[in-house]
Amino acid sequence: MFDLTGKKALVTGSTQGIGEAIAKALYEAGATVYINGATSLEKCKKVSDALGEKAIPVVCNLTDISCAEKLYEVTGDIDILVLNASIQYRKAWDEITSEEYETQMNTNFRSSLMLIQKYAPNMKKNGWGRIVTVGSVQQYKPHKDMLVYAASKAAQMNMVTNLAKQLSPFGITVNNLAPGVIATPRNEAALSDKEYAKQVYAGIPCGFAGEAEDCAGAALLLCSEEGRYINGIDLVVDGGMKL
Ligand SMILES: NC(=O)c1ccc[n+]([C@@H]2O[C@H](COP(=O)([O-])OP(=O)(O)OC[C@H]3O[C@@H](n4cnc5c(N)ncnc54)[C@H](OP(=O)(O)O)[C@@H]3O)[C@@H](O)[C@H]2O)c1
Repeated sequence: MFDLTGKKALVTGSTQGIGEAIAKALYEAGATVYINGATSLEKCKKVSDALGEKAIPVVCNLTDISCAEKLYEVTGDIDILVLNASIQYRKAWDEITSEEYETQMNTNFRSSLMLIQKYAPNMKKNGWGRIVTVGSVQQYKPHKDMLVYAASKAAQMNMVTNLAKQLSPFGITVNNLAPGVIATPRNEAALSDKEYAKQVYAGIPCGFAGEAEDCAGAALLLCSEEGRYINGIDLVVDGGMKL
């Protein structure tokens, strides 16, 4: 089960957190995996070196309009695309600047569309492909101070339902994985505040934050042959927080 030998995968934002855990799961299932971060080749290399020789570092900032061309130059065609990187600003809705709006929308939504446009044609030609976007429980329960971030994830989910219908006749599945509260470097500072953490966990039926690895198994299923009949879904990994 879950044999990805011979497959090539790109996991965006895989230098840490959920992306790193997904990259590791795909790698351990046999895939060649490109490890991506925005700025530091050293950071990408640290993860790829720890995995092994079939892991390849690639720095590319997804905020950049030409990110798809830049990534493709390094990776060439791939079979599995995991769109995990995102940018999130915490700010009251009436203080968000247009620059902050653009950075979040361009990174979290535009780059996903552009990367799918770039990588889907060869998946179509091969009659096999897997596309997984990483969304958020905020698609359903938007945080009051993350309006644009939450909206970008909802937009991405809408794109998934649209493309799942258009690409599945070519053997490509398109799904979203929506994490709830997962302990990663992103929210380390916030969750280290015990009072705040207590409030957050009170809203999660399971009562605790997930680990990045809790998302990795779910992603592996969506990226595998075993997941071939799962298409257009939102796989929510949130301990019941959405309920
Ligand atoms: N953690 C949670 O509780 C949670 C909850 C719901 C949804 N999510 C979603 O899950 C995904 C992963 O979250 P996480 O908590 O693991 O995040 P994280 O710890 O903040 O890691 C983010 C990753 O994305 C990369 N990245 C950030 N901006 C980028 C850009 N412009 N271009 C390319 N790479 C970029 C970072 O690379 P460098 O630092 O090396 O640049 C890093 O590898 C995100 O889409 C997030 O929205 C997370």
